[in-house]
Amino acid sequence: MTAAPPYYLPLSDEVAVFEAAYQARLPVLLKGPTGCGKTRFVEYMTWRLYRGSESDRRRNIDPALITVTCHEDLTGTDLVGRYLLRGDETVWMDGPLTRAVRTGAISYLDEIVEARKDTTVIIHSLTDHRRMLPIEKTAELIEAHPDFLLVISYNPGYQGLLKDLKPSTRQRFVAIAFDYPDEEREATIIAHESGVDDETAERLAVIGAKTRNLSEQGFEEGVSTRLLTYAGALIRGGVDARRACEIAVVNAVSDDTTVQKAVADIVDVVLP
Ligand SMILES: Nc1ncnc2c1ncn2[C@@H]1O[C@H](COP(=O)(O)OP(=O)(O)O)[C@@H](O)[C@H]1O
Ligand SMILES: [Mg+2]
Repeated sequence: MTAAPPYYLPLSDEVAVFEAAYQARLPVLLKGPTGCGKTRFVEYMTWRLYRGSESDRRRNIDPALITVTCHEDLTGTDLVGRYLLRGDETVWMDGPLTRAVRTGAISYLDEIVEARKDTTVIIHSLTDHRRMLPIEKTAELIEAHPDFLLVISYNPGYQGLLKDLKPSTRQRFVAIAFDYPDEEREATIIAHESGVDDETAERLAVIGAKTRNLSEQGFEEGVSTRLLTYAGALIRGGVDARRACEIAVVNAVSDDTTVQKAVADIVDVVLP
């Protein structure tokens, strides 16, 4: 028996677009603010394309999703693999990217701009028609498994132009843009994820929408859907709604007291 699919509420045509991209094995870039559902979407699509798939071969690939959260110390070796000393033997250990390339999993490189530039170059040969991964240390050139797909994510708002994807990398991907859901859908998500009643979920969604209009206060992104579901979870756990928003929303969203004050004012107005 296959486990139930992860919960994902589609916001637009992203499910059909991703399926088409997968059919053509086009590498996919998911861009959008933090906590808006990119990771959940990849988990859901992986379920659809592998666990729920017609293809026996694909259903048997395990794990079907191999995620790497990129950071500034991430090296090419971390992705591709390394020699390890085992007793008096050196053995080659595939890294997460190589494993996905060999087995036909989806490789999800989350927050790709955080990785060093020399790391990003490694993925280039996987993104064109060759679908090859060169492993320098073993002098191997591996051809990607036919089911392999490369997916990367990035948050364009974050750190502005300081950290941007190089055009030579960006232009290798079809880009699906994500944003926070509209109020109605966000309320549905909050209610589902946290278990709060519909009215509470709607109020939390209103708080989210209003904070996203605060950009004039130097507040770039607003409260994420993730934080709103956390507020819901605290309320569900018996914490008073105002206190829950203070903890999960006001304090969590920024350290800037002006921003905190502005968000607190919104919470004050929206909650009964
Ligand atoms: N469209 C959606 N459907 C279901 N859950 C969502 C959706 N968008 C956001 N969420 C909720 O918000 C949380 C954060 O989303 P996540 O995918 O981790 O964000 P991102 O990867 O964009 O930072 C998820 O764990 C889920 O609870
Ligand atoms: Mg994520």
